[in-house]
Amino acid sequence: MSEERTEGERLAELAKRRGFFFGASGAYGGAAGFYTFGPQGATLKSNVEEAWRDRFTVQEGNFEIEAPTIMPEPVFEASGHLDGFDDMLVECPDCGESHRADHLIEDATDIEDAETLPIAEVEDLLVDHDVRCPNCGGRLAGEPVDDFNLMFETNIGPGSSTPGYLRPETAQGIFVEFPRIKEYARNSLPFGATQIGRAYRNEISPRKSIVRTREFTQAELEQFVDPERDEPDLDAVADVEVTLYPATEQEADDGEYVETTVGEAVDDGTVGDPWIGYFLGIAQEWYEHVGVDTDRFRFRQHLAGERAHYAADCWDAESEVDGDWIEIAGFAYRGDYDLSKHSEYSDDEFTIFRQFDEPKTVERAVVDPDMSVLGPEFGGEAADVQSALEELADRDPDAFEGETVTVTVGGETKTVDTDVANFRIEEQTVSGEHITPHVIEPSFGVDRTVYTLLAHAYRQDEVDGEERTYLSLSPAVAPTDVGVFPLVSNVPDLVDRAEEIVGELRAAGLDVAYDDSGSIGRRYRRQDEVGTPFCVTVDRDGLEGAGPDTATIRERDTARQVRVPVDSLVTELQAVERGEKAFDELVEAYELVAPGTDA
Ligand code: GAP
Repeated sequence: MSEERTEGERLAELAKRRGFFFGASGAYGGAAGFYTFGPQGATLKSNVEEAWRDRFTVQEGNFEIEAPTIMPEPVFEASGHLDGFDDMLVECPDCGESHRADHLIEDATDIEDAETLPIAEVEDLLVDHDVRCPNCGGRLAGEPVDDFNLMFETNIGPGSSTPGYLRPETAQGIFVEFPRIKEYARNSLPFGATQIGRAYRNEISPRKSIVRTREFTQAELEQFVDPERDEPDLDAVADVEVTLYPATEQEADDGEYVETTVGEAVDDGTVGDPWIGYFLGIAQEWYEHVGVDTDRFRFRQHLAGERAHYAADCWDAESEVDGDWIEIAGFAYRGDYDLSKHSEYSDDEFTIFRQFDEPKTVERAVVDPDMSVLGPEFGGEAADVQSALEELADRDPDAFEGETVTVTVGGETKTVDTDVANFRIEEQTVSGEHITPHVIEPSFGVDRTVYTLLAHAYRQDEVDGEERTYLSLSPAVAPTDVGVFPLVSNVPDLVDRAEEIVGELRAAGLDVAYDDSGSIGRRYRRQDEVGTPFCVTVDRDGLEGAGPDTATIRERDTARQVRVPVDSLVTELQAVERGEKAFDELVEAYELVAPGTDA
């Protein structure tokens, strides 16, 4: 066991050796920033996604969608990604390696959020600190720092006339479909739409294995609300304890974490928006459920300059691995930014009709143009002139104060006598108004969650005088629920019984690994290393003793074993796997097997 290795190195080694994840396309030299999840990792990741779906979609009563990963250019013009989704790039003049200039500044100084600095200041800092290329040691001082757009561009169809982009966040797939999703929500707020899927960013320098990659999975929830009327069910999470790191504390010389509850944090304004508070609460509970170590977890508020272009307030969920804090999720108040932008750039309707409590009488500017005049004057354009006058009356009634009024049709100015427009103010009874919903967005990185779970579950101890490495993964996400072994593989009765048990456990929905190769101790270690919470062993005592046939159940973390009737295996394993029963209850109910008796 080499203690000199960092937590990240130990994890990367275990991940590769036991099939959690490894660099993709290795046969061709690989490409930085792309990873393949192996059999254990793919199942772990899919269990994390399933746990997320259950909490953030099913239990919240939200709608899940699956949008394409390639979207046409206008989507990203509207969203702001085409213009603003940039990182700071500096290239080494000696080896040609690309680096994120802000990361180099953070490594070389005490500055924690260099991405918020202007480019010119970052260039000065490269000079002041004589920053060198991490790859070859070449001087980066004096090299230009450029904005580099992180989106992968492609062409939709043959030719290059229809540019498209691989989505840099799953969120846009939800926003552009808002006009249709709102119909499924019967046009009534609040409602949430979720999506779990791939996102792509051409990161300048992918790093820390699956922490910063170029293709990754996000699980995002867009909560659409009426900002004046809708409130979350804060009572449901008011008592949830959280560790907060507000912007004010980060800026203070002696800044500290605030240990509080969600209810208090919203009441005293530490968390400014109740919806954000609500999602921090359910996220805290969810992270605990899937096995994040809460002593290595916090919610950090973004500093003003750090927030994305769309966010009014933002908190990150951060986990500690290897002494570094990793952003594993973001909780942003996006206001009406996204829906307003798509409304402005597209022809669709991104509003919701808000019904008044009582109908209201309002004054409305209307026109009723005399078509017998407009027709001869404007010919085929008369109807367009009419529409333009109606739109102008709605938008700018003062425009009708003079003797003539002008509108633009097909790029040309058309002048109409105000009398012909028949402009007037009318009283109308209206039952509601169109509003643009506000959005609160919890956005989770699935890969970083997987990385955190592996890091926080990694343990080393000694069992039966032997060192072992094991993953103390929560049964909620562990790739395998139960390992099943015959004590020895050359006794047909033991093998037959073990195979029967495998069939029964699988039929009951448990994920089972059967293993009959090598010593029993070695088989336990193999399952321990991939985090299998329980193992069942069929031994001779279980088949030959008086009374019902039995097998042993072994708990991974303590290596304790109990002897349980074979008929009760399914029920007991389901109960401990779902967390409905503690293993201690099995220890009380059944015979504890002394260490080393069967293994
Ligand atoms: N829709 C909001 C959004 O995309 P973000 O903070 O850019 O916000 C959300 O991304 C989450 O996605 C992050 O908290 C992180 O967990 C994950 N993420 C972002 N970039 C990533 C990358 N290059 N590799 C792996 N995960 C990433």
